[in-house]
Amino acid sequence: MCGIVGYIGFRQGDQVVISSLKRLEYRGYDSWGYAVANGKEIEIKKKVGSISAVEVKEKRAEGVTVSIGHTRWATHGKPSDINAHPHTDCDEEIAVVHNGIITNFSSLKNELISEGHIFRSETDTEVIPHLIERCYKDSKSFEEAVIKAIKFLKGSYAFVALKKDEKKLIACKYKSPLILGVGDGELIFASDVPAILEYTNRVIYLNDGDIVIAEPGKYRIINERGEVVRDIELIHWSIEDAEKSGYEHFMLKEINENPRVIEDTLGEYVTDKIELDPSFAAGISEIVIVACGTSYHAGLIGKYVIEKLAGIPVRVEYASEYNYHQIIPGRSLILGITQSGETADTLEALRAAKRMGLRTCSIVNVVGSTATKISDHVLFTRAGPEISVAATKSFIAQLIVLYIIAIKLSPLTRQEKKELIEELKSLPEKVQRILDKQHDIDEIAKKLSNFENIMYIGRGLGFPTALEGALKMKEISYIHAEGYPAGELKHGPFALLGENTPVVAVINRDETYEIMLNNIKEVKARESLVIAVSDDKDEEVDNFVDFAIKTPETLPILSPILHSVAFQLLAYFTARIRGCEIDKPRNLAKSVTVE
Ligand code: F6R
Repeated sequence: MCGIVGYIGFRQGDQVVISSLKRLEYRGYDSWGYAVANGKEIEIKKKVGSISAVEVKEKRAEGVTVSIGHTRWATHGKPSDINAHPHTDCDEEIAVVHNGIITNFSSLKNELISEGHIFRSETDTEVIPHLIERCYKDSKSFEEAVIKAIKFLKGSYAFVALKKDEKKLIACKYKSPLILGVGDGELIFASDVPAILEYTNRVIYLNDGDIVIAEPGKYRIINERGEVVRDIELIHWSIEDAEKSGYEHFMLKEINENPRVIEDTLGEYVTDKIELDPSFAAGISEIVIVACGTSYHAGLIGKYVIEKLAGIPVRVEYASEYNYHQIIPGRSLILGITQSGETADTLEALRAAKRMGLRTCSIVNVVGSTATKISDHVLFTRAGPEISVAATKSFIAQLIVLYIIAIKLSPLTRQEKKELIEELKSLPEKVQRILDKQHDIDEIAKKLSNFENIMYIGRGLGFPTALEGALKMKEISYIHAEGYPAGELKHGPFALLGENTPVVAVINRDETYEIMLNNIKEVKARESLVIAVSDDKDEEVDNFVDFAIKTPETLPILSPILHSVAFQLLAYFTARIRGCEIDKPRNLAKSVTVE
């Protein structure tokens, strides 16, 4: 995810922002840039690639310096020098660095272009300096112009703006992270704590709606109610702890980002309508999903959802096996799902499909990755960089995109679609409720951590959810875990059940409910410990199982999202109790670039 920095103080600003941006490298980025307001003009430097070897050696004149900096993780527009931040207005008098997504940027951009504004990049961010420029014409000050400009923005933003001839930084926060470090005679804005710790450990966590006007040695915070006072907190973390925002592992941090990820990914495709051009799937007879690992499991859930809502047949193939099948030319859409966009098997399957003249579309998290270049269409997930090897938030984001596809392609009435979208929009809050009760899941993890085999079972949508739960468990805790359709147990795996093999059952209150309870009874009769994941309105299940992880009630078709977040936590806590190296499990790599 992008990292932003803004500095006003007595040190040399370009050196400060570069050094602070290096502290944000862990967030993932593809390009970097910074700007210095020197009183006469704005000096900008920006480039694709790594910032780690960048240094500013030349000395500037002493005095207050005003600078902003950015590491970009591409969302709108490929990684390129031009798309890197900062972005400016037409006359290059105002520069902005931004983290977040301006969801209405394309209509704003068209409006500004029709008024004569000239845009240079493909980014959503560039509308911000142009809006400030437009508002500046009828404002008394830079700050008034910024306040007017943000009224036009929809989506999420944390941005810092400077003007070439002002000793001032103006920062605004709405739904993207932004903090203010308060040093002695210097102020530093950043996306995250590691970027400020070299200068101060006194920090203000800004609230949504806050606008900060920072001037040499002083600042004011205002919001729509007027001037506000925010507490300064003292940070006692090391820089390394701070990179994980105080979480013990990136995986836990990323699981805790799920509510934001759902919101951002929904925000990408849902405004007052679903923003998904249906032409990518026009005239197709079937969808063939190709993917690996966790992305493959997202595809399996997508199959159930697309077939149920849209009535389009869906096949899901391990990308590594796709090439061994006879690929039949026709009206199939090949849908690749890949977080990294670099998984060799998925890329090879997409290329093979293309060679046969089939239409390809990919659901990808990393902008500019190979999958985005070789596919006819690309649908982005907005999970942000995922650092932990185990996929968590990217999986949830993939599911959101698959639900959007299914709803868009379905013959449901407007009202029915609206109801589904409303329920999707309620999920960030429901996921947050699971996160708020993670201690309960830790308690259940304690029961599981002593076993060496675990069976995960489910039916219908519960089956791929079980597969993903088992994969998460085995890859980070090293406990052998299998996912099975509950109906298949009697056909072999029953032989493994007993007091040494606990069973984790996914319970959905849909057509699978009664039969799942019967299957659980059969499992209990073999003396296995049974843990269910079910919704919190389901009290009956408690009579059948040893422990239950309760998730908030939702529509059964959306339950894989909530159940999967619970499973991510279950795997995480089990691995932690077992002392495993969670973020980098043995023998695994984040991006599997060989077949
Ligand atoms: C498991 C995991 C892997 C990936 C798989 C595909 O937690 O992360 O199974 O899902 O290697 O990777 P992408 O989605 O990058 O193609």
